[in-house]
Amino acid sequence: MNSSTVLAQPTVETIEWTPEGVVMIDQTRLPHETAFVTCRSYNEVADAIRTMVIRGAPAIGVAAAMGIALGALQSDDLASDIPLICETLAKTRPTAVNLFWAIDRMRVLYLSLKDIPPDQIRARLIAEAQAIRAEDIAINRAIGRNGAPLVPDGKTVLTHCNAGALATAGFGTALGVIRAAVELGKKIDVFADETRPFLQGARLTAWELQRDGIETTLITDNMAGHFLKSGRIGCVVVGADRIAANGDVANKVGTYGVAVLAKENNVPFYVAAPISTLDLSLASGDSIPIEERASHEVTHLRGVPLAPHGIQVANPAFDVTPNRYVSAIITERGVARPPYLDSLRGLCEKA
Ligand code: MRU
Repeated sequence: MNSSTVLAQPTVETIEWTPEGVVMIDQTRLPHETAFVTCRSYNEVADAIRTMVIRGAPAIGVAAAMGIALGALQSDDLASDIPLICETLAKTRPTAVNLFWAIDRMRVLYLSLKDIPPDQIRARLIAEAQAIRAEDIAINRAIGRNGAPLVPDGKTVLTHCNAGALATAGFGTALGVIRAAVELGKKIDVFADETRPFLQGARLTAWELQRDGIETTLITDNMAGHFLKSGRIGCVVVGADRIAANGDVANKVGTYGVAVLAKENNVPFYVAAPISTLDLSLASGDSIPIEERASHEVTHLRGVPLAPHGIQVANPAFDVTPNRYVSAIITERGVARPPYLDSLRGLCEKA
C-alpha cells in the first residue's frame, strides 16, 4: 500500500437500520461467506448479540440501541415494554460496557420523552439509535487521528482479536489507528493474532485488512512472543471492552499475555477505545465481569471435535490487563497516559 492510499469510507457496513429491520453482516460466517441477517424484533437482536452474529464492544452497543428502537416500534405499551426490552438486551453479554452505556442512553432519552405522543417517542428512539451509529464512526475516525502519530513508520503493528470496522459501526478502533496511520502515508504492515478460540483475528481482522490492501500476516497466538522479541514489531494496538478508572483494561482473552510480552521486549502497548468504553465506577479491573462462554468453542472447530469427549473446559472470553502494561489509551478526546486515574478522568470531563 503506498502513501497516496486514502481509506475514505468504512470498509464494511456492520449494522444498519432499514425499513425491514436491523440488518447486520453475519460475523459467524465470515470470511468465506458474506451473508446478512435481518433482525425483525428486539429478541432477534438480542439473539444476534448472544450468538456473535454481531460482536465487538461498540458494535453491540449500536445493536442494543437499534434493538430498543425496534422494540419500541412494535410496542403498543411503551411504559411496560421498554423496561423489559432494555433488560433483555442487557442480559446478552456481560463484559463490554458499551452495551450498558447504549441501553442507558436510550432509557434516559425514553424517560425524558414519556409525556409526548407514542409515535413521536418511537421516532425519537429510532433517530437516537441511528445517531449512536453515526457518532461511532466519527469517534473511530477521531481515535484514528489521535493514534496514528504513535505508530512507528516502517515497522509492524501487532493486534489481537478484531477491533475493526466489524467490531464497531465502521472504521474500527485499533484498526482505525492502523488505517489512519496508512492514510498518513506510514509504511506499516500488520501481524494479526488468530485469537483462539473464536478466531476473530483469523476470520475477521485478516479479512478486513486484506480487503483494504493493508499488508497483513496471520500468526497463531503463541507466536506473538517470538515476534515481539525479534525487534520487528513497532507497537501493539488493541481495542477494549471495558476500562476501569485506574486504566486496567478488559479485552479479548489473550490480550494480557501480549501486553506482558510487549513490556518485556520494550514494545509500546496501546489501547484504542471510545470514551463509552470507560467505566469510571470501577476502581480497578478486578471487578469487571468476565463472560464465560460455551465449552464447545474450545473443544470444537466448526463442529469438528478437537479434544476428548467429556474433557473439562474453561472458556473466559476476556482477560484484564493491569494498567502497568498499558503505554497509552487512545480515545476520541485525546491520548491518556499513566497515571490513568487522573488522565482518564480528565478526558471524561473534557467536553
Ligand atoms: O467477544 P468479542 O468478539 O465481542 O470481543 C471483542 C473484543 O474483545 C474487542 O477487542 C473489543 O470489543 C474492542 S472492539 C472495538
